[in-house]
Amino acid sequence: GTWFAGNGILQGKRVLVTAGGTIERLDPVRFLTNDSSGKMGFAVAEAAKRMGADVTLVAGRSSETPPAGIKVIRTASAADMLDAVMREFPDTDIVVKAAAVADYRPATVHEQKVKKTGEKLVLELERTTDILAALGERKTHQLLVGFAAETENVERYALDKLKRKNCDLIVANDVSKEGVGFNGDTNAVDVYGPEGLVSSLPLMSKRETASRLMELITDRLSSRGG
Ligand code: CTP
Ligand code: CA
Repeated sequence: GTWFAGNGILQGKRVLVTAGGTIERLDPVRFLTNDSSGKMGFAVAEAAKRMGADVTLVAGRSSETPPAGIKVIRTASAADMLDAVMREFPDTDIVVKAAAVADYRPATVHEQKVKKTGEKLVLELERTTDILAALGERKTHQLLVGFAAETENVERYALDKLKRKNCDLIVANDVSKEGVGFNGDTNAVDVYGPEGLVSSLPLMSKRETASRLMELITDRLSSRGG
């Protein structure tokens, strides 16, 4: 592969990447989160940097070390991530939304620790804002790349997300497969555009997936004259 190759093909382009999981607080000592490691998004940021882009990484929960030479904004909740992304969006050319954003958050955030009472506790959750869909509504010149984590009907669900969120590309992973998705060092993805399957990237390291993905994105950008 050519994943290690650096070149200036994205010189002068601004790339915004989100990565990692969100944290939705319940009380001062508890929160809801997910299994995302942030590895995929951090690798995308690194690949974009290596290709010469001006990179901003909005990073949720992740223990990865950000690559040198990029701007990093740390966020906790989906609402924090939305704020950060909205601020950066107007000046961005490419957005890659690899973060695993919570779909729901506790409807009530308790100021004091919740004490145990009965044998059962029912938590009420409310929907968060869909950041990718919000970007899709507001995009002007930006190339918008979303992810889709699925366990079945990958193609149908991925194309549905692409349409619904007004994305230019969707990176779908079948997280029911061995070695794919959330918390490992490898990934296998199918990339879809409005016309259907663009590329199938077989099982490889997330760093290599990230490089191949950034190459596909760059091709799209140049083919529309950007
Ligand atoms: N996403 C987002 N904001 C949310 C939820 C998801 O920006 N509140 C983004 C993710 O970053 C990802 C894409 O939407 O790029 C798809 O996320 P995914 O969880 O696969 O899809 P959902 O639309 O949330 O649908 P579901 O979880 O029901 O499959
Ligand atoms: Ca979701």
